[in-house]
Order: sequence, then structure tokens, then C-alpha cells
Amino acid sequence: MTDPAHVVTVRFHLNGRAEQVEVPTSLTLTDLLRDRFGLSGVKFSCSRGVCGVCTVLVDGDPVASCSQFSFQIEGRAVQTIEGLRGDVPHAVQRAFTEHGGFQCGYCTPGMVLTAKALLDRNAAPDRAEVVEWMSSNVCRCTGYEAIVESVLAAAEMLRRQPRA
Ligand code: FES
Ligand code: FES
Repeated sequence: MTDPAHVVTVRFHLNGRAEQVEVPTSLTLTDLLRDRFGLSGVKFSCSRGVCGVCTVLVDGDPVASCSQFSFQIEGRAVQTIEGLRGDVPHAVQRAFTEHGGFQCGYCTPGMVLTAKALLDRNAAPDRAEVVEWMSSNVCRCTGYEAIVESVLAAAEMLRRQPRA
């Protein structure tokens, strides 16, 4: 049983909605999102901040959720893959589908969110910048070439898309 002295209240935004939760100070952000909110798009593997499958966006920055405690997101905005799609899939999701950027799909939520964060900062990255940025995420299936192609294609789609 958790010592009540080690439980804290955390207020944050999750996929655009205000949330408030009581959490043990030891609870990781991965476990909060998966176990309390049922967001199974947040994957889990190395638990050491190395593989990137657990990536979510915190205030727009890619973060390994396995390496964050839940209390660290107080006052911040968290986006998971479940919050990315609007009425239609996001351009990065469309590009990954059209360019074969995934096989088993386990790394894909983290890859897509990491790519989105890049394209939010830099609308026209070159191949080397894409390779460098995406190197935080491990894929065991694709050999990466299709992922890089997908990110470059998404950048092009977004540049053609009228801004809201
Ligand atoms: S599970 Fe978080 S980085 Fe690997
Ligand atoms: S698509 Fe299988 S791990 Fe990347």
C-alpha cells in the first residue's frame, strides 16, 4: 500500500482536456497514461529512456515517458498518439501509412510523435536532420529508410496544407 505522505495531486492537460489525479510520487508517466487513462498507444520496452517507444509530447517536446515521474507534468500539456488525430489522420500518420513507415507498429506511436515535434520546429528538414532527430527512437523492423522517407513526405504534405 502506498504511504499517503508520498501521494501528490497533479493537474495537467491530457490531449487537450484538463485532468487532476492523485499519484504516488514513484508513478512513472508511462504507467499513469496507460493504467489510469487507458492510453495503450503509449508503448513500453526498455524502461531506461533509450528506445523511445514510450515517447509522448510534453509542451510539444518529445519525452520518454518511462523516464518521467507523473508529478513532473504538473501544469504541463501532454499529448499522446490518441490525441493526435483530428477529424482525419495527421499528415505524419498519413505519410507513415503511404510510405511504409511501419511494419509491426510497436515503435510507431513514438516515431510519429517524435516526427511531429520535428516538423513543428522545422517545416523543411533535410534528410540528415531527419536522421539525426529520429535517432532517439529505435525500430526493430523497418531498417529506418521508410521512416525517414515518411517524415520527409509528411513535411512536404504539411507545407502544401493550408494553415488553420
Ligand atoms: S520504454 Fe521508454 S525509452 Fe524505452
Ligand atoms: S515497426 Fe516494428 S519496431 Fe518499428
